Amino acid sequence: MSMITTLDEFIIRRQKDFPYASGELTGLLRDIGVAAKIVNREVNKAGLVNILGVADHQNTSGDTVQKLDMYANEKLIDCLKNSGECCGIASEENESFMPLEAISEKPSKYVVVFDPLDGSSNIDVNVSVGTIFGIYRRLSSTDEECQVTDFLQKGTELVAAGYVLYGTSTMLVYTTGRGVNCFTLDPSIGEFCLSHKDIKIPNHGQHYSVNQGYYLKFDVEMRRYIDHCSDMGLGLRYIGSMVSDIHRILFQGGIFLYPNTRANPKGKLRLLYECNPLSFVVEQAGGKAINTQLDRILDVEIHELHQKATIAIGSPDMVDEMKAFVEKYSAPMAP
Ligand code: AHG
Ligand code: MN
Ligand code: MN
Repeated sequence: MSMITTLDEFIIRRQKDFPYASGELTGLLRDIGVAAKIVNREVNKAGLVNILGVADHQNTSGDTVQKLDMYANEKLIDCLKNSGECCGIASEENESFMPLEAISEKPSKYVVVFDPLDGSSNIDVNVSVGTIFGIYRRLSSTDEECQVTDFLQKGTELVAAGYVLYGTSTMLVYTTGRGVNCFTLDPSIGEFCLSHKDIKIPNHGQHYSVNQGYYLKFDVEMRRYIDHCSDMGLGLRYIGSMVSDIHRILFQGGIFLYPNTRANPKGKLRLLYECNPLSFVVEQAGGKAINTQLDRILDVEIHELHQKATIAIGSPDMVDEMKAFVEKYSAPMAP
């Protein structure tokens, strides 16, 4: 029988590689794993809740039925609050960040950022959604509450990041800057088990991923690159939940694009909650992530919690090729 490694065992084993580790990061990753299992349970029930068609947003027990993204948000906050391993959180669903109180007067040195449910418009039609998270070391003193500056750090400062995909299987993928590993939830034992070790993204893939419906709203250089993808015979895959598209690209290669449009001149996706954590994962797997100004995503300065970004992310050769197209076609015309 092959040996099973659970997420908890793996995290603890990895902690031993860091002689000065205090166990806080280990605890945080485990808490995120627990929250993921709770959210997973509700995501799986979502269809059923709709069938039961509860009037006035009340379920049969009289509880208020929440939107699933708000539910996921609350569960993540609860798990992180109770753990005492983090001093503050910032969520895509909340306007501002939230300082958390220390438990047993043990101050924490980490803050967590997350998109509780990515692709939430897909829930009603039973298409995969996910949770994205990132962990930063706080910059402020542990004598005071965490500050907004603890969250406004470039992606290069991420200590850990990952995502949970609630798909045909539920998978948790994360990195602490030493490769990317994937754990699949075994529902029979309720544990995330190591299923894909040290994932490496293919240099090239057979698909490109973009909302082609906005084609006419993209800049000319982006349209040229998209035409090129089509000319090369690449297939188009676009799920509408970034985490699902990135998961496919991580395993099969490809490129995901969310450029600026006329409606979203700075892009639509959020740097802190979506682009940075997923860029860290993809880079750790050997991929690349840049914006349409061709800056590396992880190097982009962040000035506000909900700052938007454009993004091209995926197989290294494809991101390089896209960069070459943008350089070529956005060059000023000769007089
Ligand atoms: P969220 O559900 O967290 O708001 O994110 C949705 C995001 C992303 O997951 C997806 O790739 C993108 O929005 C889809 O946007 P379009 O419908 O504009 O293509
Ligand atoms: Mn999202
Ligand atoms: Mn979301």
